[in-house]
Amino acid sequence: MIELNHINVDFESKNTTIHAVRDVTLTINKGDIFGIVGYSGAGKSTLVRTINLLQRPTGGTVHVNGEDLLSLKPKNLRIARKKIGMIFQHFNLMNERTVAGNVLYALRSSTLPNLEKKRKVTELLTLVGLADKQNVYPSQLSGGQKQRVGIARALANDPEVLLCDEATSALDPKTTLAILELVKELNEKLDLTIVIITHEMEVIKEICNKVAVMENGAVVEQGSVVSIFTDPKEPLTQEFINTATHIDQALAKLAKHPSVLNIREEDSIVRLSFVGENTNSPLISSLYSKFTVTTNILYGDIEILHDTPIGNLIVTLSGTIAQRKSAIHYLAGQGVNVQPLEQIQLSDQSKVISINRDKHIL
Ligand SMILES: Nc1ncnc2c1ncn2[C@@H]1O[C@H](COP(=O)(O)OP(=O)(O)OP(=O)(O)O)[C@@H](O)[C@H]1O
Ligand SMILES: [Mg+2]
Repeated sequence: MIELNHINVDFESKNTTIHAVRDVTLTINKGDIFGIVGYSGAGKSTLVRTINLLQRPTGGTVHVNGEDLLSLKPKNLRIARKKIGMIFQHFNLMNERTVAGNVLYALRSSTLPNLEKKRKVTELLTLVGLADKQNVYPSQLSGGQKQRVGIARALANDPEVLLCDEATSALDPKTTLAILELVKELNEKLDLTIVIITHEMEVIKEICNKVAVMENGAVVEQGSVVSIFTDPKEPLTQEFINTATHIDQALAKLAKHPSVLNIREEDSIVRLSFVGENTNSPLISSLYSKFTVTTNILYGDIEILHDTPIGNLIVTLSGTIAQRKSAIHYLAGQGVNVQPLEQIQLSDQSKVISINRDKHIL
């Protein structure tokens, strides 16, 4: 378990102080795949580097498995750090050493006999799918293969925690998925706790069970991936999710759709999001039988996150104001999150529609 308590990191530069991390408190449980998402400069790397004290916080405490890292003497800190592996965006391999040599280097201060070390290197490279590449040099590998070496090296000292700083940012989408798949497999096989930094909510959606959203040094929202995806509270979180679920693209396309262009007084455009068993029930069809409200589905998507179906629909509801009001109240009562959408005229004559969270429905 990792406990970060009221972490602050300040950098002094010339006459100014940069508050890279502001009062962050996070608990990462054993076995979690914990995602930290945010734009460039949000403070993600600085925060994560405090977990192994590559970055000493200016304030706050860091506990890993109950041990207060800031109180450890250098020797004990070195031991504690061995239990925390790390991988990076640009792999940081040593080009003059072979693949096996790179992994072996991580065992340089291990007390294992040489033969055991060699056996361990082979075992690790087999685990990451590179058994046949032991004697080649990094320059002969693809990006995905280089990251696999990075992972094998990070696992050399049997860590309990793996920190991944933008580990897939330099890879193409297919290779990214393969690496994420491997990370998930290691989480299950080795009971590894994993912390993943990314600027893509897609990565979070793919493998994380928990997520924290960072902005300007602070964590603005955190929770389980399912709860954050179904009910994001902060505008920044909504922005990340809309991109990851392709709602943004759908909205841009829909702005030109005839049913949106010719919207009438008696129509409302709404986004419906729902979780779990609600995705199975015939809610939409019951809107007509119950309230004489006709529904036109403009966009629909269901994603499965950790076995939980999460649905997103963009629909027009047609009927009198009273009928639409009743239908929306009914949907909300059934656990469906209903958000009004609004057409916005841009200055260049083109239109977009956007989610308007502050506006009351009808
Ligand atoms: N060693 C340092 N000295 C001074 N300022 C720093 C240092 N490291 C980071 N910063 C500043 O702290 C802030 C947070 O940086 P950080 O690298 O943690 O962000 P990030 O979220 O990881 O960004 P990216 O996605 O680009 O990697 C930035 O404003 C950065 O310029
Ligand atoms: Mg970073």
